Amino acid sequence: MIVYKSAEEIELIRQSSLLVGKTHAQVARFLRPGITGKELDRIAETFIRDHSAVPSFKNYRGYPFSLCISVNEMVVHGFPSDKPFQEGDLVSIDCGVYLNGYHGDSAFTFGLGEMPQATIKLMKVTRECLQKGIEKALIGNRLGDISYAVQQHAESNGFSVVRELVGHGIGKQLHESPEVPNYGKRGNGPLLKEGLIIAVEPMINQGQRDVRTLRDRWTVVTRDGMPSAHYEHTIAIGKEKADVLSTFEYIEEVIKENNNITLA
Ligand code: MF3
Ligand code: CO
Repeated sequence: MIVYKSAEEIELIRQSSLLVGKTHAQVARFLRPGITGKELDRIAETFIRDHSAVPSFKNYRGYPFSLCISVNEMVVHGFPSDKPFQEGDLVSIDCGVYLNGYHGDSAFTFGLGEMPQATIKLMKVTRECLQKGIEKALIGNRLGDISYAVQQHAESNGFSVVRELVGHGIGKQLHESPEVPNYGKRGNGPLLKEGLIIAVEPMINQGQRDVRTLRDRWTVVTRDGMPSAHYEHTIAIGKEKADVLSTFEYIEEVIKENNNITLA
């Protein structure tokens, strides 16, 4: 069952989603070769709690951290670890917060220092996939229009779409109906209506689409060991255009000043 949100609820989800964007920026200030995921997780959790919110992921179905940090061949749900990042790492950071009864959810992928050209292209194309999906998030369209746009852009650039993980409705629960696959057919699926709030989150692989889950029961990696990128926004379906509730603006301000981060 899809829970449609009122204008007031959408503003609350916007507040949660903005705090996610600010948390990402706070983390990005510290991101460099030599720092560890565990250190970033602490920074994020402190920042979220200092803003009267709760990390959405922590203890969600037993997930033990505030952030998911997925490095290189990790697709999503990587555990923040004690291994220092190295130059050339592709670092995807996913964050959710729960504030005033509603969740916000957003992810961003950073390159550290010198990166291979193909991986820079993977970052760029994955971010464009998110944008293309959002452009189809219009009242009267179908969910499949979003999915198709994402898949089309990824595959026409020679990359592959992960099938096992999907975007989702979001609100009082982190994961609500409907599922938002990153592959599908135009004109298929539920009709997009006013008040529908979803997290769109393409997970795009540089090599083959196949993935597996590590023994920690969370970390999803590519089977071929090639890199994977992930960007995510929480959005409200719109009349002329979607209302993007989360933001990368704060991250981008920080990236301008942090020379360790390579943007696509
Ligand atoms: N953005 C991811 C998702 O919506 C992160 C969830 S991690 C979990 O699935 F730990 F909360 F599961
Ligand atoms: Co999500």
